[in-house]
Amino acid sequence: MERAFGARWNPFAQLGALGWFCFWLIAGTGVYLYIFFDTGVTAAYESVESLTHRQWWAGGIMRSLHRYASDAMMVLVLVHLFREFAHDRLRGVRWFAWVTGVALLPLIYACGVTGYWMVWDRLAQYVAQTTTEWLDALPLFAEPLARNFLDSGHLSGRFFTLMAYIHIFAPLALLLFMWVHIQRHSGARVNPERGLALGTLAMLMGLSVAWPALSQPAADLGRVPMELPLDWFYLAVYPLIDRYGGAAVWLGGAAVGTVLLLLPWLPPARRPPAAVVDLDNCNGCGRCFTDCPYGAIEMVPRTDRAPYSQQAQVDPDRCVSCGLCVGACPTATPFRRAKALKSGIELPGLRAAELRDQVVAMGGALATRPRILAFHCGHSAPLPPSDASFGVVHVPCIGMLPPSFVDFTLARGHADGALLAGCRSGECHFRLGDRYTEQRIAGERDPALRERVPRGRIGVSWRGMIDRRRRRADLSAFREALLREAPAAPARAGCRPAWSFVAQGGLYALLALTIGAFSCWPQYRQLARDEAVVKLSFSHAAQRVEPCAALTAAELARLPINMRVRTDCRRDRWPVTVNLMLDGRLLYLGTHRPAGLHDDGPSTIYRRFAVPVGPHVINVRIRDTGRSTGYDYEARRGVNLQPGQSFVIDFASSGNGFIFPVTKE
Ligand code: HEM
Ligand code: SF4
Ligand code: SF4
Repeated sequence: MERAFGARWNPFAQLGALGWFCFWLIAGTGVYLYIFFDTGVTAAYESVESLTHRQWWAGGIMRSLHRYASDAMMVLVLVHLFREFAHDRLRGVRWFAWVTGVALLPLIYACGVTGYWMVWDRLAQYVAQTTTEWLDALPLFAEPLARNFLDSGHLSGRFFTLMAYIHIFAPLALLLFMWVHIQRHSGARVNPERGLALGTLAMLMGLSVAWPALSQPAADLGRVPMELPLDWFYLAVYPLIDRYGGAAVWLGGAAVGTVLLLLPWLPPARRPPAAVVDLDNCNGCGRCFTDCPYGAIEMVPRTDRAPYSQQAQVDPDRCVSCGLCVGACPTATPFRRAKALKSGIELPGLRAAELRDQVVAMGGALATRPRILAFHCGHSAPLPPSDASFGVVHVPCIGMLPPSFVDFTLARGHADGALLAGCRSGECHFRLGDRYTEQRIAGERDPALRERVPRGRIGVSWRGMIDRRRRRADLSAFREALLREAPAAPARAGCRPAWSFVAQGGLYALLALTIGAFSCWPQYRQLARDEAVVKLSFSHAAQRVEPCAALTAAELARLPINMRVRTDCRRDRWPVTVNLMLDGRLLYLGTHRPAGLHDDGPSTIYRRFAVPVGPHVINVRIRDTGRSTGYDYEARRGVNLQPGQSFVIDFASSGNGFIFPVTKE
């Protein structure tokens, strides 16, 4: 990615920021769509169709952008998750970003799923039915939510409007959580480089124009959508719900969620000790506070008698021991005459004095010119072993190195050249080490490298773990430059070769193709061509376990006035047993407990069966009394089921018992 996009525009180094960018894109296009969208269940489809076709040049493109940016966001977030994991940026005190990141996943999912619901086409119908079946697997609702989508008679406009509101409020909750997610990152990058943002927007626009998002035919609850162009980025679990049931998918999701949430502690990180402030050397300048990438430093009022107004204070629960604060502290200079070099802030694992001792010892061991001393961050590509002309001083992050140490190395003749070897540009393990180092060398950030230090004797090598060969090449190039006494070629090439633009275009095209394709392909077949669906669903309160007894006048008189009711009833009811036969073959037999803490509510059932098309005899029976054999209600009906037909069997004890749809024979 870095080779194709260049270090500045490398999308892998800005995945979180690109996630934010997609969010704003989705929010902006969403506001436009909402202006023309009708939240009524009957008008929703029409309004989206009109938006897509009558103003394809605005509404249609907005709709497509809205969909494709949502897909892109899912892709980016998943890659972001894998990368944070692969780079081990989740353990120790960094658990917070990981755990809040995991919490973002269901929110993104809820936004996407409710979005598909709003269009109220065949896909929306499938999403509504399967989502409600999925939710019904949780013991939360007294009546199955899926009953709302049995047929158009059951469809509630209010439930539909509720979905529309969830689709508006879930993104607001998402935004809040995205903000919480970066609370422990000071100066978190929420805006990608402008060129990268424009490129991503152009890619999504191109996709929207070339492959506009379109609706399926309008929803028809009397028919089961047979073939569905699923958006696999959001709806991949839906076929699993069909196949294994909502409960199994909840269990699977909970298991994956739990493992993800526990990952920061599997195994717990060995935490190096946090940075400590030495008040005798801290002048309260606040540079460490400004530079700490994890907001672990606070400036507080002075607690000693020193003539400064404030002092630095480290919160060990937020400190990742990167040492960037040491690199920022003006007192961490090896030129100080004090015998025991101590800086205002120190890493107990590698104090400034130890760092100076290592430079002196390593430099002393170098005999062959050009003598190179490398400062190496262990999270980046490894360096070759030390030899007579090359020595390595290890630091937790290259940003820990105060520029005065480079000055000291060169000015005191400990080496002919200093090589600063850190993570790939823009991908510092501690977020900002490479950026600070470059700015300090360029004199743009305090503490700046002094003017007098010959820049030609400083080399930088920004290489990720896997860039071993390029790291070795950087070292060789630096060695040659020192021999020639010419400045080393800058590690960050200002100009990109022409082929990299072609590669960038190719990668954008590949991403657009992936998003476009998997947003509707491969089609999912819910039912075989020769199948129909029989839905058995009702909500029925069975008979009471004991019939109500009428109270005599004398019994009534003995009761307090406010409790005088003419009948005395036990609240609990019998369960309802249902038996459904198709052509004499048992399709379903089940007993359903009454709802309510006192078993006094209705028993509810919602079951869906795929059956072969053609003529059938359906026989359904219900027992709602305490009898041990036989049934209290029975209906037999001949039907000729058509492919994709949805045949609903409902029941209402108040009417004629079983309710069958009117079918054309
Ligand atoms: C809406 C989705 C998400 C957005 C917009 C987002 C955005 C961001 C941003 C802007 C950063 C700060 C980057 C920086 O300045 O260095 C970040 C860091 C991080 N994110 Fe996310 N993120 C999202 C989802 C996730 C998910 C799902 C996970 C993993 C479960 C995750 C894990 C992390 C981790 C561990 C860090 C901290 C890395 C470090 O310590 O340097 N994020 N995210
Ligand atoms: S070591 Fe890093 S995280 Fe800890 S206080 Fe210093 S700069 Fe902040
Ligand atoms: S940078 Fe050093 S001197 Fe300045 S406040 Fe931090 S510890 Fe104190």
